[in-house]
Amino acid sequence: MTGQIAKETLFLHNAEMGLGAWAWGDRVVWHYGRDYTDDDLQAAFQTALEAGINLVDTAEVYGSGRSERLLGEFIKTTDKPVLVATKFMPYPWRLTRGAMSRALQRSLERLELEHVDLYQIHWPFPPFPVEYWVEGLAEMVKAKLTHAVGVSNYDKNQMQRAYTILAKDDIPLASNQVEYHLLDRSIEKNGLLDRCHELGVRLIAYSPLAKALLTGKYSADNPPPGIRGRAAAGILSRIGPLLQLMTEIGQDHGNKTPGQVALNWIICKGALPIPGVKTASQVAQNAAALGWRLTAEQVQALDQASDKISK
Ligand SMILES: NC(=O)c1ccc[n+]([C@@H]2O[C@H](COP(=O)([O-])OP(=O)(O)OC[C@H]3O[C@@H](n4cnc5c(N)ncnc54)[C@H](OP(=O)(O)O)[C@@H]3O)[C@@H](O)[C@H]2O)c1
Repeated sequence: MTGQIAKETLFLHNAEMGLGAWAWGDRVVWHYGRDYTDDDLQAAFQTALEAGINLVDTAEVYGSGRSERLLGEFIKTTDKPVLVATKFMPYPWRLTRGAMSRALQRSLERLELEHVDLYQIHWPFPPFPVEYWVEGLAEMVKAKLTHAVGVSNYDKNQMQRAYTILAKDDIPLASNQVEYHLLDRSIEKNGLLDRCHELGVRLIAYSPLAKALLTGKYSADNPPPGIRGRAAAGILSRIGPLLQLMTEIGQDHGNKTPGQVALNWIICKGALPIPGVKTASQVAQNAAALGWRLTAEQVQALDQASDKISK
């Protein structure tokens, strides 16, 4: 199976961009209900489908289940196919493998679906070794509750172990979802991205806009609201030269924005960005990162600028 893309996972390799639904129901980080409403989210979903973006990434923990519930409601309003990726959180109090099947059943109830397209383990948390919950993923495939399975936040070694366990049942590891953007390129430096390409595992890039810092709309004088602002304080004072280069490169492609350049850069690296969205206008802007490509020289220039300020 090494190096080849399994047919069960083609839908992920064919997708160039997905939608992130962490903010759909999340009040703590994203201020759901204050800055944006369910109507905004529904419009965002519709706009995505019209733009050909139909993979939505959610999780049982997002908005304590509200993200899955909203997605289920939105899916009922369209005839277009929607690909649903959700996640299992291996809380330390989940002590039997039956907990995974019960969690997925509850996700399916919230989503009002009979199966999902991608079921992912959210984090490789202790106390169990990687093998324990990954064997659970194989059971979810056999029970036809999910089409494909993936992991999230797994390092190279953990991902390899997950791949090997699933291979015993002839089940491909479809994806590894990790943080990846121009301010955090650790997966290029530690070999995880290359290993994904070698194994045919789709690298799903989360927080591809660095939680909006790469859109250029925030600055040291105008930080994002709440806890995001506190987390971004250090980097915002150093990000200027990178944003300037992104703006200049965007101009060469018909006035693309820094955010569009940030997403296109991820696609050029062979990964799948899933920008989080709250409004139709954000989706429309992000969708304009598709249909064109940065040149190899521009990707290299962005790498060099990011090296000066990032991990
Ligand atoms: N597996 C994991 O552990 C994990 C962890 C984190 C995220 N994720 C997944 O990855 C998805 C994306 O990551 P993320 O939401 O953390 O960060 P992100 O995609 O980097 O940033 C999303 C935020 O940027 C702003 N934004 C989006 N499009 C914009 C545009 N065109 N113009 C201006 N602002 C725009 C919005 O926030 P404002 O309008 O408030 O600025 C939006 O909520 C999540 O939704 C989730 O599905 C997974």
